[in-house]
Amino acid sequence: MSQDPLAFAQHALQRLPPALRRQERCFAPCAEGLRADGAKGQPLVDFSSNDYLGLAQTGAGGHGHGGASAGGGAGASPLITGLRPIHQQLREALCAWLGREQVFLFPSGFQANVSLLAAVADRHCLVLADRLCHHSLLLGVRAGGATLQRFAHNDLGDLERRLSNGRQKHPGGRLVVVSESLFSMEGTSPDVAGLAGLCGRFGALLVLDEAHALGVLGPLGRGLAWGQPHVHVVVGTFGKALGSGGAMVAVDGVLGDYMLQFCGGYRYSTALAPALAAATLTNLQRLPSLEPERQALLARAQQLRQRLVAMGYPRPPGHGPVVPVLVGDENAAMALQWRLEEAGLLVAAIRSPTVPQGAARLRVVLRLGQPPQAMETLVQTLLAEQHR
Ligand SMILES: Cc1ncc(COP(=O)(O)O)c(C=O)c1O
Repeated sequence: MSQDPLAFAQHALQRLPPALRRQERCFAPCAEGLRADGAKGQPLVDFSSNDYLGLAQTGAGGHGHGGASAGGGAGASPLITGLRPIHQQLREALCAWLGREQVFLFPSGFQANVSLLAAVADRHCLVLADRLCHHSLLLGVRAGGATLQRFAHNDLGDLERRLSNGRQKHPGGRLVVVSESLFSMEGTSPDVAGLAGLCGRFGALLVLDEAHALGVLGPLGRGLAWGQPHVHVVVGTFGKALGSGGAMVAVDGVLGDYMLQFCGGYRYSTALAPALAAATLTNLQRLPSLEPERQALLARAQQLRQRLVAMGYPRPPGHGPVVPVLVGDENAAMALQWRLEEAGLLVAAIRSPTVPQGAARLRVVLRLGQPPQAMETLVQTLLAEQHR
């Protein structure tokens, strides 16, 4: 009997509720921020991108540090002929900035996470990951074949119970804990020293994804793992506050050689494009001069949280520039997104499966470069909607 090899796709699409269907839109950069639907759309202030410091628009586009002369592509894996002087310069700068011994560069954060977890957590491991960890981290655990348990979001008590059980069941087994330092849909951060302390007690390897925190949180924007040597592995992406693209994994000691010898996703993939390495280095070197603006951004994020509380919303947790406005219903969140867009603001509604069903929200991202009055427009538009 013949089987339709495409039936799985038809069935999956038929089951997808209309409110959860995604559509791609094309946005053209403009003076105000972005124009929706190509260059003809209305200009919108961007409250959605992860370019927290505005460096993707105003920072280096790959021509600093000889990026252009190094060429757009590396041509091979870093272990064959793909490693360029610009990669080495970026690695040295990142090591110095983060206080780590070794950095591995990857073409994307997604690839870094899948490759890293597949390399450090094999089928003999128990991995305990925060319930809200990014898809790429979970995919990496699956790829490595480890047993995965999710602990309640930022709940050190739950993590401690699971670590203790894990140790009792497998006294000599390997434990790996995975979390993030700024959860991108919640705006929350864990108690990193607490995580490191628990991992130390139970002999667990601690992996912290700092994708959204680097450049923004921690002393001088160095992330929340700064000064915490018991965070064994730090992941960072360059496509967010660093305003370019690509990613890194930073480690110390024996993990450096381990990654080089055993991380297939590093060894068997073309090295990060030199132009992106150059743009990242240029933007990294701009960070110290942006320190007052970074502080002001964090202060603005706290002001927005207070304004939302005054309007009757639950206080959005956290201290960073990601401020979720909980709506609940997926259709209501989409309606609010369109209402804000009519007011000239681009704020993405986030729906299931990115967040749990019924927990749809507006993900408001505060960024450098937004016009001073835009936050007021945002608040007033939300207020007007409340009174409709
Ligand atoms: C926590 C986290 N890790 C990794 C990634 C993937 O990074 P990249 O966009 O560089 O692939 C993201 C992207 O959204 C993320 O939020």
